[in-house]
Amino acid sequence: MNILGLNAFHGDASAALLSEGQLVAAIEEERLNRIKHWAGFPNLAAAACLDGTDPNEVEHVAISRNPFAHISRKVLYAAARPASWQRSMSRVANIVQVTRLSSERPGTILSELKRARIHKVEHHRAHLASAFFASPFEEAAVVSVDGFGDYSSVQWGVGRGNRIDVRGSVLFPHSLGIFYTAFTQFLGFPKYGDEYKMMGLAAYGEPRFAPLVRRVVRTISGQCRLDLNYFTHHNQGVKMTWDGCEPVSSNLFSRKMVRMFGDAREPRSDLTSRHADLAASVQVVLEENYFSLLNHVYQQTKQKSLCLAGGVALNCAANGKIFEKTPFRDLYIQPAASDAGTSIGAALSVWHERLNRPRSLVMQHAYYGPEYTDSEIRAELSSAGVNYAHVNGTELVNRAAAEIAAGKVVGWFQGRMEFGPRALGNRSILADPRRRDMKQLLNSRIKHREHFRPFCPSVLQEAVSDFFETDYPSPFMVTAYKIKPERQQDIPAVTHADGTGRLQTVDRESNPLYWELIRRFGEITGVPVLLNTSFNENEPIVQTPAEALDCFLRTRMDVLVVGHYILQKSENLHLSEHRRAFAMA
Ligand SMILES: [Fe+2]
Repeated sequence: MNILGLNAFHGDASAALLSEGQLVAAIEEERLNRIKHWAGFPNLAAAACLDGTDPNEVEHVAISRNPFAHISRKVLYAAARPASWQRSMSRVANIVQVTRLSSERPGTILSELKRARIHKVEHHRAHLASAFFASPFEEAAVVSVDGFGDYSSVQWGVGRGNRIDVRGSVLFPHSLGIFYTAFTQFLGFPKYGDEYKMMGLAAYGEPRFAPLVRRVVRTISGQCRLDLNYFTHHNQGVKMTWDGCEPVSSNLFSRKMVRMFGDAREPRSDLTSRHADLAASVQVVLEENYFSLLNHVYQQTKQKSLCLAGGVALNCAANGKIFEKTPFRDLYIQPAASDAGTSIGAALSVWHERLNRPRSLVMQHAYYGPEYTDSEIRAELSSAGVNYAHVNGTELVNRAAAEIAAGKVVGWFQGRMEFGPRALGNRSILADPRRRDMKQLLNSRIKHREHFRPFCPSVLQEAVSDFFETDYPSPFMVTAYKIKPERQQDIPAVTHADGTGRLQTVDRESNPLYWELIRRFGEITGVPVLLNTSFNENEPIVQTPAEALDCFLRTRMDVLVVGHYILQKSENLHLSEHRRAFAMA
């Protein structure tokens, strides 16, 4: 039985294919249409997931939206507040969009799936399902925390076998995600997904504004409550505009926020210690509320294991303190804990909760995207006219490890693309974490991002406790752990200002080639750790060999390893200069 899961008409639109309960493919639409955080219908991703599948053998389509959820509350809320009617109209338009998918299926790949029955799965139900049903736990507490989806911002419950029993939720207009996003905007980071920037900046500040920030939000008995006087979303809604190819939402903070904290920072203006202090204060208050919620869930469920999903669950600084601040002793956060993962969650919810099928999936890696054969890669390189060399498996790893150890910046493109926001060793740019200047060098040559944002380490699973104060697995780069003080000087390029590293633990079973590369680098240098950043330059992560080659040529990357082929920038300078000039034009 095939189930197509979709996250449609919501940020990070995506598709996933579940076949007999096993995850076969999962792709974000942005990787294919090259528009960051695309929020329309994931037609290209759905087509890619279904490549090779007979449309008549797709029995179910699961969409991670149910605009009719909490419909009576929505109507009552709007009726009581005429100022919110404009926002209500956009909600009605969304209901029409999702409803039309079920009936007419206009202009989408769904029109080809004649036999498929369409299911709507509430947004947070899909988040919960994506967290628990992909986890290794037979029984666990499960929590979803984000901005909003289907009128909720938090939902929690207990997962047992193939069921999730929902125990509580937080409804519109209260939201920890909106709290964090509003301050992210206030600090001059207006784009969708910019919350990582404020989290990175927080490590440089002192939380001296925390007492003031606590006036804005509090969480009691799992219920987050915003002081709505500081916000606009409850009246004005959230309007999206575009900055280049990236979505930007309207301001969520009100004039009262400005009166309390001073002028908001203009995007791209100078950052001061006051900005860093405010970021630190917001991070502290977020964590207080997050742990208050999680501790409430523990008290209610008494489960020792915890599964998390939703945008707030991607706050790796907070996640790294869960074992310290709560009684939970096991943690699972799947690699696409963001909205993209709800396509998997919707499909899993239908498979288990509506069709009553037993558990059989554990999502132990993120490699569910497209891949390319060596002959396809060679054809691309040949048609581009670049100079390249073919090398076998062992030599490939030896040469790549030696290049990184020699200080080169290496583009590393292998196997199936990752699903979720992190590059985990298949679409990555790799560098030597021992070099103190590597962060600045990467920023000036390739990434062009803010100086305060950290780069992350990929660490051989067997060596995690040599460098970090814990060896609990973190395979998806969603937790930040303290680096041992005596080892921070050994890996300065991946040690953040607060002494933490947002690590990826790499085990041999999940990604043997990447594991072997890190192991070989460790043999050469004594440090089995690589700096790993996503393979892109202000664009969605590269998906095809052609996109990898283009990024390699137009940036100042030194080496590209794509499949079994190695390219040196020094041997392709003429093409590189041409691409750079073209990109600048
Ligand atoms: Fe969400």
